[in-house]
Amino acid sequence: MTSSTLDAPINATETHPSLEELWMPFTANRAFKRAPRMLVAAKDMHYITADGRQVLDGTAGLWCVNAGHCRDSITAAIRDQASIMDYAPPFQMGHPLAFELAQELARMLPEGIDHVFFGNSGSEAVDTALKIALAYWQSKGEPERVRFIGRARGYHGVGFGGVSVGGIEANRKQFAAQLLPAVDHIPHTHDLAHNAYSRGQPTYGADFADALDALIDKHGAHTIAAVILEPVAGSTGVLIPPTGYLEKIRATCDRHGILLIFDEVITGFGRLGAAFAADKFGVVPDMMTVAKGITNATVPMGAVCARHAIYDTVVNNAPAGIELFHGYTYSGHPLAAAAGLATLEVYRSEGLFERAASLESYFADAVHALRGSPHVIDLRNIGLVAGIELEPRAGAPGARGFETFLKCFELGVMVRSTADTIALSPPLIVEKSQIDQMFETVAQALRTVD
Ligand SMILES: Cc1ncc(COP(=O)(O)O)c(C=O)c1O
Repeated sequence: MTSSTLDAPINATETHPSLEELWMPFTANRAFKRAPRMLVAAKDMHYITADGRQVLDGTAGLWCVNAGHCRDSITAAIRDQASIMDYAPPFQMGHPLAFELAQELARMLPEGIDHVFFGNSGSEAVDTALKIALAYWQSKGEPERVRFIGRARGYHGVGFGGVSVGGIEANRKQFAAQLLPAVDHIPHTHDLAHNAYSRGQPTYGADFADALDALIDKHGAHTIAAVILEPVAGSTGVLIPPTGYLEKIRATCDRHGILLIFDEVITGFGRLGAAFAADKFGVVPDMMTVAKGITNATVPMGAVCARHAIYDTVVNNAPAGIELFHGYTYSGHPLAAAAGLATLEVYRSEGLFERAASLESYFADAVHALRGSPHVIDLRNIGLVAGIELEPRAGAPGARGFETFLKCFELGVMVRSTADTIALSPPLIVEKSQIDQMFETVAQALRTVD
């Protein structure tokens, strides 16, 4: 790292504010505040900590900084836009950048998906997609189609809709009394007995998709609005779809006229070595939710991308007036739109999705070289995503994963732990030597963790 601001250590005791007032999200607040891990600067592949250490970013922040940190053209676009027009209301008013970003995004999307509704996060995108599904069936004259089908271990953000269709039990427990009523879940596809140490897509498990037929038999297709799933589940610990599974889900939805929503909040924008998971797997949904990499995480933004027919049905079939009673104060915010346009240009001009594809095999070799390391019970990879599953410590599930994360951070690499799976998803600008550093560090950490 060359930037002089990054070379200057920050004196933690002088610069830290009180840690008490901030209620931190998805964090063990008390433990963190006893031993904080503070990041104060970032450039390209690295963070700098408050005590001046350089940490290699093995996770693209939170699966979102796909082009690397503080990219000059993106930060300049945000700065420029902030001084031209800071904000414009999106209801009954417009500004050109939001339209331009929708058009640029539509050019990247799979054929047939060509309309974009903006929000500010993945969670908002998911709730928006569920609402659009309901609006679609009402406009089509099938208002009884209200049921949603998600998947066990799915993560779709934290809105009530997203938590309802999501399948991570810890996220549902505190709110279970008020989740959406008409939701079912099909099983996840994680099957270590058949698929441990798969390279790329596992070969066993297309038939997990048959659970969808069973739910259709139970409720009747005429009651089901949409199926939502992550093509590759990220937050639950990197679950890669078996060969043929997504194809079967798509075929079943087609047979019964059910909408298929891919939550591409993590898999979008090159993460798998293609623009979207839909391209990687050759399975095109009816709607896609995106966020994170759309602005390289610089300004919050999310979006629902919908097929032409969905827009046509909800908007062009409606009587005059507002067609969808939904939107956010910051839908298509000018700073996010400027950041998004600059980000898509970086992806394009630097060929970052192709770069991710060209690194996939090297990355896979590095992942699978961990076989035999202490505690490892599975290694999985796709694109620039790795899951390293550890045997849980008896009586303390998740402890080994978290301690491995802490040790890697101490050794200068940021990884992510979800329960006892370590996930890696570096920015797409990662160098081979940095891939080596990431996995050597994980190996070293595993040797020290009980
Ligand atoms: C698949 C998926 N959907 C939705 C979300 C929620 O996004 P956000 O945290 O921006 O609301 C995430 C976040 O990680 C995600 O991985």
